[in-house]
Amino acid sequence: MALENEKIILANWKMQLSYQETIDLAEALKKELKKYKNKKLEIGLCADFMTIPKLSEILKDTQIKLGCQNIFWEDRGAYTGEIMIDNLKNFNVHYAIIGHSERRKFLQESDEMINKKIKQALKNKIIPILCVGENFEERQNGQKDLAIIKQIKSALSEIKTNDIEKIIIAYEPIWVIGSGQAIQAEEAEHTNRIIKEVVLDTLMTADKNLNRKSLDNKIKLIYGGSIDASNILNFIKQKNIQGVLVGSASLKKEKFIHLINAII
Ligand code: PGA
Repeated sequence: MALENEKIILANWKMQLSYQETIDLAEALKKELKKYKNKKLEIGLCADFMTIPKLSEILKDTQIKLGCQNIFWEDRGAYTGEIMIDNLKNFNVHYAIIGHSERRKFLQESDEMINKKIKQALKNKIIPILCVGENFEERQNGQKDLAIIKQIKSALSEIKTNDIEKIIIAYEPIWVIGSGQAIQAEEAEHTNRIIKEVVLDTLMTADKNLNRKSLDNKIKLIYGGSIDASNILNFIKQKNIQGVLVGSASLKKEKFIHLINAII
């Protein structure tokens, strides 16, 4: 099957692989993905910070882009334990996952912190992959849309209109992450349409003269949560799902390649 427009496939390796496992997987994918060079695919690997220097070497001169899984919002200073963004830029880091639900949960990342990180990524020409999504309780209580709208509005507060096309927004229902059971693609499409409307509203609030229509196709929306080779095509076929963020199914070469093969 030939892809109509460019699709984005992003691996989120989380803290799942050792240094050597990461390097071996990247080397193997580099070899394997050579033949996909002219396909309409944007492929990114979001890895552990410690592996970034070596990955930057391995992925040099390939079409595979490198990503990290977090950044800090200041350039430098007394921030013990944080990573300097200039150091990431030195290694050609192209994306940064921001506001993943695991960080919101385990590290108490707030909407305000996430907004600062988005601004810092944009200032440094790193593509933020902003993750939003509802937890199971919010869903059960009929609060799903409200929860997502709140996350989007805060994360994108004071973002310049021109910057919107430099952001990837990933809808990830928290309760299906890592479960092996994705939601229905149609539901993800519906949610992404809501997200798009909220993004447009947020931008229009800041500037009433904006042309809503012209912005529409600049908003990049993807889906994440138990994506694998068996379900990816359903998601990719949706109008408002331009790609996927993949955790578990990206940790083994065969599985990840199988998943990519399912859409091309
Ligand atoms: P999963 O993880 O594919 O294992 O559900 C996705 C994510 O957390 O980004």
